[in-house]
Amino acid sequence: MSHNVKKLGVLTGGGDCPGLNAVIRAIVKSAVQRHDIAVIGIEDGYDGLVLPNKTRKLTPLNSRGILHVGGTILGTTNRANPFKYRITVNGKTEIRNVSSEVMQKIKSLELDALIVIGGDGTLNIASHLYDMGCPVVGVPKTIDNDILSTDVSFGFSTAVQIATEMLDRLHTTAESHHRVMVMEVMGRYVGWIALASGIAGGADVILIPEIPYDREEVCQKILRRKKKGCRSSIVVVSEGAKEIDGALCILQSAEEGGSAERLGGAGEKAGLYIKKNTGIDVRVTTLGHVQRGGTPNAFDRILSTRFGVAAVELIINNQFGRMVCLEGQDIKSVPLSSVAGGQKKVPTETGLVITAEEIGVNFGRKA
Ligand code: F6P
Repeated sequence: MSHNVKKLGVLTGGGDCPGLNAVIRAIVKSAVQRHDIAVIGIEDGYDGLVLPNKTRKLTPLNSRGILHVGGTILGTTNRANPFKYRITVNGKTEIRNVSSEVMQKIKSLELDALIVIGGDGTLNIASHLYDMGCPVVGVPKTIDNDILSTDVSFGFSTAVQIATEMLDRLHTTAESHHRVMVMEVMGRYVGWIALASGIAGGADVILIPEIPYDREEVCQKILRRKKKGCRSSIVVVSEGAKEIDGALCILQSAEEGGSAERLGGAGEKAGLYIKKNTGIDVRVTTLGHVQRGGTPNAFDRILSTRFGVAAVELIINNQFGRMVCLEGQDIKSVPLSSVAGGQKKVPTETGLVITAEEIGVNFGRKA
């Protein structure tokens, strides 16, 4: 196919997730070997388009052996937003709009196109850069699975697999000690990881942000199980879960952290209440960043590879301002603007929640 793209840039932004390197590898292989396009790797997200000396040429040779490797060889940050860039002058931090400098940098690097691999924040920025004339396409990544317009983002499947394996381990120790085991998982404001790992890992209670929970109902469920002779119970709590009329458990505000607010403590909170009100011994495990680290599973390696190839295809077809996505079994694309500023929530009256309820899983809905 004939096209006029000679050089493209690629960056990874936001939190890392398993499969980023697999996307980079697919982009490099497809662009260089199939379409004769040079690839420039931009380091540390949008920082690489603001700060000096943060680019390097990517070749099939120097991108070898990374398909199965977690993280991102390019580095990333969730603090660099060119439209609200933090600059420290004489010890004082100022917020500046450096988007014009970013556009200038893209020009001086002679990039005909830019591929941005990221979550909602990173893709939102990409959408604004596109409005300024940047020839950009997006690839959706996040373990949270909260990006609109794609059935799934890469990284999610691996995170669910890790959480499921941890639940398998918790079952045996819970059963031995007649305990309630609470496991807090990531997911930010949506409950996809909790729901999927909870079902796959045989949880008895799953608490997700989309269904504010009644803590008394959760205790009753656990006591009913005990009465039936069940020696232990497993509770999966999404970090964004909250009680009816309750507040999010926030570890650090966005201002303190310099990026998005950090959630945490929902598992401990639920665990304390359960212990006090059932009299059963409770232990809480907060899974944390192990859900994001390490090798991507086969599903995510395949999805990442498909996304990387599809992003290059969009570029050679001059379809800028779009994000690749998965619809059913097919790779498609949608405008970046349709993704920006929203979140894909778990439906609470259809799908997996109902399946789980049919087998007796309790979401702490008020009776
Ligand atoms: O968005 C991915 C995610 O892992 C969330 O599930 C979690 O709330 C957040 O990132 C943690 O971010 P950080 O790496 O900044 O602690």
